Amino acid sequence: MRAVDVIIKKRDKKELNREEIRFFVRGISNGRIPDYQTSAWAMAVLLNGMSPRETTDLTLAMAQSGEVLDMHDVGDIAVDKHSTGGVGDKTTISVLPIVAACGLPAGKMSGRGLGFSGGTLDKMESIPGYRCDLTTEEFVEQLKKTGIVLSGQSKDLAPADGKLYSLRDVTGTVQSIPLIASSVMSKKIAAGAHAVVLDVKVGQGAFMETLEDARELADLMVQIGKLAGREVVALLSDMNQPLGNAVGNALEVREAIDMLHGGGPEDFREHCLHVSAHMLVLGKKAKNLAEGCELAEQAVKDGSAFEKLRTLVSAQGGDVDFVDHPEKLPKAKYIEVVESPKNGYLDQVQARSVGEAAVALGAGRAKKGDPVDHAVGFIIHHKVGDKVEKGQPLFTIHANNEKLLAQARKKILAAHGWNNLPVPALPLFYD
Ligand code: URA
Repeated sequence: MRAVDVIIKKRDKKELNREEIRFFVRGISNGRIPDYQTSAWAMAVLLNGMSPRETTDLTLAMAQSGEVLDMHDVGDIAVDKHSTGGVGDKTTISVLPIVAACGLPAGKMSGRGLGFSGGTLDKMESIPGYRCDLTTEEFVEQLKKTGIVLSGQSKDLAPADGKLYSLRDVTGTVQSIPLIASSVMSKKIAAGAHAVVLDVKVGQGAFMETLEDARELADLMVQIGKLAGREVVALLSDMNQPLGNAVGNALEVREAIDMLHGGGPEDFREHCLHVSAHMLVLGKKAKNLAEGCELAEQAVKDGSAFEKLRTLVSAQGGDVDFVDHPEKLPKAKYIEVVESPKNGYLDQVQARSVGEAAVALGAGRAKKGDPVDHAVGFIIHHKVGDKVEKGQPLFTIHANNEKLLAQARKKILAAHGWNNLPVPALPLFYD
C-alpha cells in the first residue's frame, strides 16, 4: 500500500476500508508517513468527510496506535471528561480535582492548544516543572496512588493523535467531525476510563458552530464510546462567548484556582459544578445531578478539591508554591485595561475573535512546535446581556509586545457588540 494512494482515494471522495485506515495511522505513528502526506490526507478528510464506519475504524486504530490502559484495578469506575475545544475553557483544571476529591478516580489525557482554542496541557505547563508526558506506568501508578492524573498523549498513549493533532493545529484541518471525534475518543479509549463526560462546545467560538453539527459530533462520539464498551454522556454547551473571564494559559490557571477557592466567575463556576455532577452520577458517587452538584460544592467548600489540585501538581513534578500563590505564575510585561467606548447592553463577545487574538499574542502556536507564551491573554470583564457604562473596564490585555498589544486591543474591541435594548444572557447548556 502507498500513502499517496490513500490520500488520492479520500481526495476523490471514496470510502477508505479498515486496512487503508490502519495502514495510514500506523504510518503516522511510526513516522514512515511524512508530515506533508499526513497534512494532505487530513485536508482531504476535512473536505470530503468520513462515514461513521470510517470514523470508528480511525478512532480504534488511533487508540490502538499505543497502549490501551485497563483501569479495572484502579477502582470500580474510573471517569474521564473531554471538551471539544473552546475559548477560556479551563474546566478540567477545576473539575478533575473536584471529582477526585469526591472519591472518583479521575485520569485524563488532555490536549494542547488547537487553532483558536486553548489546550489544558499548555495551561498546566504555566506551573513550573509540571510534566505532561507521563509514561503508561506513571499514569497508572499515579492514578492508583493519588486518584488523579492529568497528562498528555505520549509515545505510549495514542501517539497517532499526538502527531496528527499538532499538524491539524497549523494546517487548517481542525474543524472536521471525523477528525475531532477520532482525536477525542482515541484518547478516551486509550486512557481506559470506564465512563466519560463529553463537553461538546457549540457556537461561534467552537469547532461546531451549529447545534445540528454539534449534535452529530456528540452522537458519533457516544456511539464510538459504546462500541468500545464505555459509558458516555455528551453535553452541548455554549461557546459563543468565552467561558469565564480569563483567556490565556496562566490567567486561566489562576481563574481555575479561584474557582476551587469558592470564587471565580459565575458562569464558569456553574459550568464546572454541572460537569462534575455528571461525572459523579456516571461514577455512581451521586444518585442524581442535584446530589452530584451538592457533593461538588462541598468539595470546593471544605478545601478538599483544592488539596487534590495540589496533590496532582506535586505528583507530576510541578512547583506547588505556584498553586498556593498563583500571583507567582508567569506575568506579562504590559497590562492594559481597555474601557467601554459606549453605554449599552452587550449583545456579543465573539469567542472566536478572542481566541484568535490570544493566539496572535503568543498564547497558541502559528507553526508546529512553536513555544507558547504562558503569560499573555485577556480578562474579558463582561458577558452577553450585561449592561455596561461608557468608561467602565471592558477587558484587560496581558501582552509581552507593544505592537501585538495594539492589534489585540483593536480586535477585542471589535469582538464586543452593544445594543440599546436589554439583551438576554446566553444559556450555559443547550442539551
Ligand atoms: N480535543 C481533542 O482532543 N481533539 C480535537 O480534535 C478537538 C478537541
